[in-house]
Amino acid sequence: MHIVHIAAEMAPVAKVGGLGDVVTGLGRAFQKEGHLVEIVLPKYDCMDYSRINNLEAVSVGLDSYFDGCTFKNKIWTGIVEGLPVYFIEPEHPSRFFWRRKIYGEGDDFKRFTYFSRAALQLVVQAGKRPDIIHCHDWHTAAVAPLYWDVYVPQGLDSARIAFTCHNFEYQGAEDPVALASCGLDPERMHQPDRMQDNFIQNRINLLKGGIVFSNIVTTVSPTYAQEVRNIEGGKGLHLTLTAQAHKFFGILNGIDTEVWNPASDLLISHQYSAEDIDGKAANKEALRSALRLSGTVLDSDRPIVGCITRLVPQKGVHLIRHAIFRTLEQGGQFILLGSSPIDQIQREFEALSQQFNEHPHIRLILKYDEALSHSIYAGADIFIVPSIFEPCGLTQMIAMRYGAIPVARKTGGLNDSVFDVDDETIPQQIRNGFTFAGMHEKDLESALDRAMNYFMHRKEWWQELVKKAMMMDFSWNNSANQYAELYARAIARARTRF
Ligand code: ADP
Ligand code: GLC
Repeated sequence: MHIVHIAAEMAPVAKVGGLGDVVTGLGRAFQKEGHLVEIVLPKYDCMDYSRINNLEAVSVGLDSYFDGCTFKNKIWTGIVEGLPVYFIEPEHPSRFFWRRKIYGEGDDFKRFTYFSRAALQLVVQAGKRPDIIHCHDWHTAAVAPLYWDVYVPQGLDSARIAFTCHNFEYQGAEDPVALASCGLDPERMHQPDRMQDNFIQNRINLLKGGIVFSNIVTTVSPTYAQEVRNIEGGKGLHLTLTAQAHKFFGILNGIDTEVWNPASDLLISHQYSAEDIDGKAANKEALRSALRLSGTVLDSDRPIVGCITRLVPQKGVHLIRHAIFRTLEQGGQFILLGSSPIDQIQREFEALSQQFNEHPHIRLILKYDEALSHSIYAGADIFIVPSIFEPCGLTQMIAMRYGAIPVARKTGGLNDSVFDVDDETIPQQIRNGFTFAGMHEKDLESALDRAMNYFMHRKEWWQELVKKAMMMDFSWNNSANQYAELYARAIARARTRF
């Protein structure tokens, strides 16, 4: 199969969160099976260029349509984690991808609809005939209606469109006329069965367009696929999803078990595995020392509780804050690595970080730091993910791979990957962490306190739990097979959008 992913993120070069990990991980899983996988990304100024191999500008540029004009784009090719990538650099006066950040600009709708159109144009110009074009989230959702309305009439008709929605919170809603810029007909699209926003009727909604116009729609866990079919979870799209139920599936993400492998990870100080977990204690010591946390003999019973996250309401910010104080009260040490696109939250945590600046047991690090994230996964004993909602969540899986036991709220993909050690309704062999259901501080305590208590008082049992968590299979194997089945099913069907 020939699969082209069109996305706004790709780990590790342009990553804000899990979307970047998934594009790379899913792409690599298919490449390993012998499929041709290519990725199309914007050429951001803020990418990690040190992780792109063989980057070079292609001699022939690309002309793409926007706002009634034709713009030139420079096309670059390179290899990221073994995957061939096309980078689009628009020569547009708005310098769409020269903003020193990936998202959060006032003209994001314009930037990404421009990119969606240019990406399809690239596929045509390069003479590609992919079997599957896979787009992700609202940023590249316009690819689906553009494909059927603009490109199929022009002869690009080899492909089926797959669309993965990683988060229904962000939908890309705008005035219908904004659609005209990328060449979609606002009047035609502003219809209840096409792209009209279900809540605000004088708007169009890109995410809805991605759902309606794709052959296959997925989200990133089975539980979230259920949750979004109700009014609260679907953020206005529940009825659309119910109407499209025949092509809508929940597939749990995997993690890239080569990138996230404590046995070979060079970003951690001591490599270790489930068969030989001694190195985990050495990483804990190294982490304490790097972050100037107390590590005397008296601290040997103290668990390190870690948390690595974007600090946005979705992630249960009030519960994260509470966990810091509760961990301290219960005799643990807490490390937070996170940052927030929301100024107020960033400032609040910066103040908290200052308050604990020289504290022997708490460190709050408010930035994005890939290398440090590896050290925290390796050094932490317990890892909290108290999300209010979580489409999939990768941090709980990565944490388990490194033997840090998750404390997670039972929602979305957390509900499909973390199973409480004390829940007798669940088979013993998959119980791997601590869960809670409510949204109150006390609910979090019911799981966090148990985890800390077991860590301190059931040492051998805990070691066994660590080994078991490390051996759980969160690789892409299983999930990639499910995607392969859906791709094949879509290809076998007639070449229409339904
Ligand atoms: P989301 O995509 O909603 O942010 P996920 O759990 O799916 O949540 O993915 C988060 C990814 O981003 C993980 O790979 C995690 O390690 C990484 N990450 C989040 N915050 C940071 C940070 N401050 N520094 C480094 N990595 C981070
Ligand atoms: C989104 C979700 C997260 C998911 C990730 C990758 O960012 O918030 O839960 O793991 O996408 O699919």
